[in-house]
Amino acid sequence: MYAQMVETGLKKVRTEEDMSLDEAAFQARIDAGIKIEPKDWMPEAYRKTLIRQISQHAHSEIVGQLPEGNWVTRAPTLQRKSVLLAKIQDEAGHGLYLYSAAETLGVSRDELLQALHAGKAKYSSIFNYPTLSWADMGAIGWLVDGSAIINQIPLCRCSYGPYARAMVRVCKEESFHARQGYDIMMALARGTPEQKAMAQDALNRWWWPSLMMFGPSDAESVNSAQSTAWRIKLFSNDELRQRMVDQTVPQAEYLGLTIPDPDLKWNEERGSYDFGEIDWSEFHNVLKGNGPCNRERLRTRVKAYEDGEWFRDALVAHADKQAARKAAA
Ligand code: 3HC
Repeated sequence: MYAQMVETGLKKVRTEEDMSLDEAAFQARIDAGIKIEPKDWMPEAYRKTLIRQISQHAHSEIVGQLPEGNWVTRAPTLQRKSVLLAKIQDEAGHGLYLYSAAETLGVSRDELLQALHAGKAKYSSIFNYPTLSWADMGAIGWLVDGSAIINQIPLCRCSYGPYARAMVRVCKEESFHARQGYDIMMALARGTPEQKAMAQDALNRWWWPSLMMFGPSDAESVNSAQSTAWRIKLFSNDELRQRMVDQTVPQAEYLGLTIPDPDLKWNEERGSYDFGEIDWSEFHNVLKGNGPCNRERLRTRVKAYEDGEWFRDALVAHADKQAARKAAA
């Protein structure tokens, strides 16, 4: 199958000629839809790209709590505050499932966090934008979690067992996140003209960065070809991005809000929307650390880690004491 797989994206896919016997047997399991488990033999490159993707996914969940944390004390009602708190707490749990899935690949959580804090590991670009109004809580749930669901549903069927199983749990909670966001947008869109304007302003600011969450275009994606061959990626960046556009435009129309893209147009022939060109210079700039909130986000995460050192030390001391007591018994 891989002999005819041409170079797509910017990285060459391993072909049958490149593969060792072990690798060919591994690829046959992937092609047969057999889940790869931690104790199974796997190519080092497969392990490495999973650590890369799963750890960055976990970092995204944890850093992703920060923009919303900004509005917990400013929520308009007690009910909105408790829903937002529940959502933020869920994201922490998603991060823990994903760090645990990454640890099954032989890497420690500390190593992963050091890579994040040193700016060596990425997290989703979307979390480097500021949350300027309560409507941003709605736009994030609706658009950011909405994009995350589209990206994460296929991951429930990816080839690596622990990642796929973590995603099943995450996706169940993610749908609550998206719905609570859309509920906020609905309340604002049906509110006073100022509230509707606030919702439109949030849509204007979060629309394009949400489309960037799906990654660079397929032609620019360096990892897609091999991740697809290994069934880590079941759909391309552009395919999932298109799904997000097609799903969201009718929802915006229902709210009476305008998608900030003058080139957006239904394409009868394709049965989906044509949309404008993404500003990839903005995307690459944010990835380089020059987004509006990159420095603040990383500073906050490093401080949280340092402030928590005493707690981690206490846990280790307690565990050591327990172990010593057990050994002495
Ligand atoms: N933000 C930051 N980096 C991004 C990015 C984004 N939006 N999109 C792509 N990149 C990076 C990739 O990590 C890669 O860099 P690397 O090789 O140094 O890791 C580079 O840009 C090229 O992109 P590729 O398309 O070649 O990389 P992938 O094949 O890994 O595809 C991806 C990128 C689609 C994000 C894929 O990694 C993926 O599906 N990851 C899992 C899902 C995920 O991480 N989602 C992030 C949001 S989680 C979230 O939103 C939480 C929710 O609760 C709100």
